[in-house]
Amino acid sequence: MQESQSLSQKKNFPLGKRTREPMWNGFALARYHEYISCCLNLVLLKELLLTMAEDDLSHPDLDKEAGEEFLQEVFQIMLEEGIRKGMDASEKVCDWKEPDDLQQILDLELKNGGEPRERLLERCRDVIRYSVKTCHPRFFNQLFSGLDPHALAGRLITEMLNTSQYTYEIAPVFVLMEEVVLRKLRELIGWEKGDGIFCPGGSISNMYAMNVARYHCFPDCKQKGNWSIPKLAVFTSRECHYSIQKGVAFLGIGTDNIYLVDVDEKGKMIPAHLEKQIIQAKSEGAFPFFVNATCGTTVLGAFDPLAEIADVCERHRIWLHVDAAWGGSALLSQRHRHLLDGIKRADSVAWNPHKMLMTGLQCSAFLLRDSSGLLQRCHCAKATYLFQTDKFYDTAYDRGDQTIQCGRKVDCFKLWLMWKANGTTGLERRVDRAFAFTRYLADEIKKRDGFQLVVEPEFINLCFWYVPPSLRGQEGCADYNLRLGKVAPVIKERMMKKGSMMVGYQPLGDRVNFFRQIVTNPAVTKKDLDFFLDEIERLGRDL
Ligand SMILES: Cc1ncc(COP(=O)(O)O)c(C=O)c1O
Repeated sequence: MQESQSLSQKKNFPLGKRTREPMWNGFALARYHEYISCCLNLVLLKELLLTMAEDDLSHPDLDKEAGEEFLQEVFQIMLEEGIRKGMDASEKVCDWKEPDDLQQILDLELKNGGEPRERLLERCRDVIRYSVKTCHPRFFNQLFSGLDPHALAGRLITEMLNTSQYTYEIAPVFVLMEEVVLRKLRELIGWEKGDGIFCPGGSISNMYAMNVARYHCFPDCKQKGNWSIPKLAVFTSRECHYSIQKGVAFLGIGTDNIYLVDVDEKGKMIPAHLEKQIIQAKSEGAFPFFVNATCGTTVLGAFDPLAEIADVCERHRIWLHVDAAWGGSALLSQRHRHLLDGIKRADSVAWNPHKMLMTGLQCSAFLLRDSSGLLQRCHCAKATYLFQTDKFYDTAYDRGDQTIQCGRKVDCFKLWLMWKANGTTGLERRVDRAFAFTRYLADEIKKRDGFQLVVEPEFINLCFWYVPPSLRGQEGCADYNLRLGKVAPVIKERMMKKGSMMVGYQPLGDRVNFFRQIVTNPAVTKKDLDFFLDEIERLGRDL
């Protein structure tokens, strides 16, 4: 303050003298006053900014106490509205609203001013209220569902710590933990050694596989690009996940270079046709470098015959990747792991514990049989600001250069904590229970009029048509398929608007729309399964 007073005094003096000169007219005088007041304002502004800057630096702009109170209230809302009600069969799975109505209710636009605590808590309640409860015992729509409290605790702690998995210095616990979890998954595959990384989803794990396989065949490609290598060919079944197509496009291989392999009536790849396609690709001048076998196809839940596919790959020296994003968790079950017989012969595997094991999104492991550092060589960029070679600890623990990411979320902790809580046998029980649910429903379907299985389930995908009374006995009619294909979408609309349950449907090849029901949630009971079939009948019998 003192300094500013003296400053304004100094500035005023010479000009003050000039104001008394007669040649100054009224206009000039007015401009002069304007100038003076402008100078004064600037000085005051400067003072204000200086005081504010001092204040800014000396006091936090975050009310820690209010923040803690807010969090406690939010946790309470999460427990009550999201978890307790979300898992209660008598509550709605979703409170359906048309997009325009939902926009109105939520008032989503972001504004200049902040809102008071009560309003924010109200908003949190609304977000939960109008979201789909994937932990609800009647949510059968996705390949993930349910809620494991230990996995959720892991997710919350991970979010709270807000770290990145790339170096030991910033994530010491999680670097060690990730390796333990990946080793456990590799052991279940049957590999004593190997490598791997948690990826943001199965689609990305599948892309990693292609990238590593390409680098394995043509290391120069990393530097010189696809121009330095022959035209590549990828082989996968017609029933594979669409991420193979996306990965091929993303990596510049080109979707025209996917050779689709036929499947049998259950949806399994036919190895003889795979070999035929490989020979065909070679005759067209392409370089077959990657075979993707799927264990647990997305719609039918089919497992490709790995041992026979591995024989073909060995004969032609092609990388074998197994997309076990969906079916990989069957490896935990002594009773059902035979579905993946031969998986240990794969070069790489994608496995999503966030699906059948219920860790919560996302938790996807990309696992490699190679233990020579292929993953690191393929992806490393050696950034000196992150992966300094002269660090004070063993930099072998800085695993982040193995990935195509920089910052990487911690995805291992939720799985680790859940595994610690349930043990391997507890997880095995869960997997077996999911198979038992599906068996029960498939048997029930056979007893009920109007229900028809698309295929006998081998895994936990229950695919079926509901044929309403008006269509029964009319299989020979010309428009039968057309009319049957319209049944599932109407039933779906009705269940969503009622909020009673959720299940997916889709067409597949020449099969018109059918339901695909998935139960992974161990909170589901026989009562929920019976409700499911009864509700389909209730919602569709008038169609
Ligand atoms: C067989 C299969 N592979 C890969 C994926 C992709 O996994 P994500 O959704 O984690 O990208 C899915 C997803 O459903 C799948 O069913």
